[in-house]
Amino acid sequence: MLLLGAAGQLGQDIRRRWTGHEITTLAHADCDVRDRDQVLAATQRHMPDLVMDNAAYVRVDDAEREPLEAFAVNAEGARHAAEAAVECGASILYVSTDYVFGRGDQPHQEDEAVHPQGAYALTKAAGEALIRETTPRHFVVRSSGLYGVAGSSGKGGNFVETMLRFGREGRAWKVVADQVLTPTYTADLADKLEELVSSGAYGTYHLTNAGECSWLEFARAALDIAGIEADVSPTTTEEWGAPAPRPAYSVLANSKLGVLGIEPMRHWRDALRVYLVEKGHASAR
Ligand SMILES: NC(=O)c1ccc[n+]([C@@H]2O[C@H](COP(=O)([O-])OP(=O)(O)OC[C@H]3O[C@@H](n4cnc5c(N)ncnc54)[C@H](OP(=O)(O)O)[C@@H]3O)[C@@H](O)[C@H]2O)c1
Repeated sequence: MLLLGAAGQLGQDIRRRWTGHEITTLAHADCDVRDRDQVLAATQRHMPDLVMDNAAYVRVDDAEREPLEAFAVNAEGARHAAEAAVECGASILYVSTDYVFGRGDQPHQEDEAVHPQGAYALTKAAGEALIRETTPRHFVVRSSGLYGVAGSSGKGGNFVETMLRFGREGRAWKVVADQVLTPTYTADLADKLEELVSSGAYGTYHLTNAGECSWLEFARAALDIAGIEADVSPTTTEEWGAPAPRPAYSVLANSKLGVLGIEPMRHWRDALRVYLVEKGHASAR
């Protein structure tokens, strides 16, 4: 496999956990997906069976100010990776987001029409579409609320670590309680991606941990498991006033995984506990 955008939190877990695969990793500085020639040269050099485009512009609010920059990475970069994969006879794996579903209040199905709101969601939906248009040999995988040991390199950390830091600093702060999602541990996602790719069943999939919660419930669970008493209270999306719109309900039904006979991922609380133990924030029971 050739892994583009390899230094990200998911990329690092793929590298750690896909032990049975030969992986060439290229970070942003090694290969910029905005540059088609660079991507083509990299695939020609390494001739992979699978290209994973993990390069992404992930700063959801900043994307409102610089949508063309987000488009260049998330959409055009995806097309470059897919074209390069076709050139060398490889398949392509692209990770997309629950934010493509800007409407609805029930778990979203893989074949449901998308309604991306905001620049980040639009560019990721465009990336999905360009991949599908370029090659049938694709895995387009939507996930949600990612956190991992490495922390998001694009966002400079992850939500869980920020919540624990605020709690330890004795701050009083608010977290939105009216956006519901499924937080997903990148180590679990990396393992499930390996199973999916090994199945050879191309298509669009939803892969998240099980269950659902608001960002506030997620924060409280992390603080609770880590044993930190904190003054965290609810706020609303409207009161928070972030530049980018975010879905009120972006839970993803992992329906197609079951059709392939692949076990669903564990509950988000169980995954969170494992993460917190691994990071030394909680002790193993
Ligand atoms: N984080 C979430 O909550 C979430 C939720 C659902 C889906 N996703 C999707 O999951 C995937 C992985 O997310 P993540 O949290 O692991 O992100 P991440 O840690 O920010 O990793 C993204 C990587 O892409 C690299 N990159 C940015 N621009 C690039 C370019 N032009 N060329 C090559 N590399 C470039 C970044 O490098 P630099 O930092 O050096 O620029 C970074 O290492 C992304 O596709 C994201 O859209 C994320």
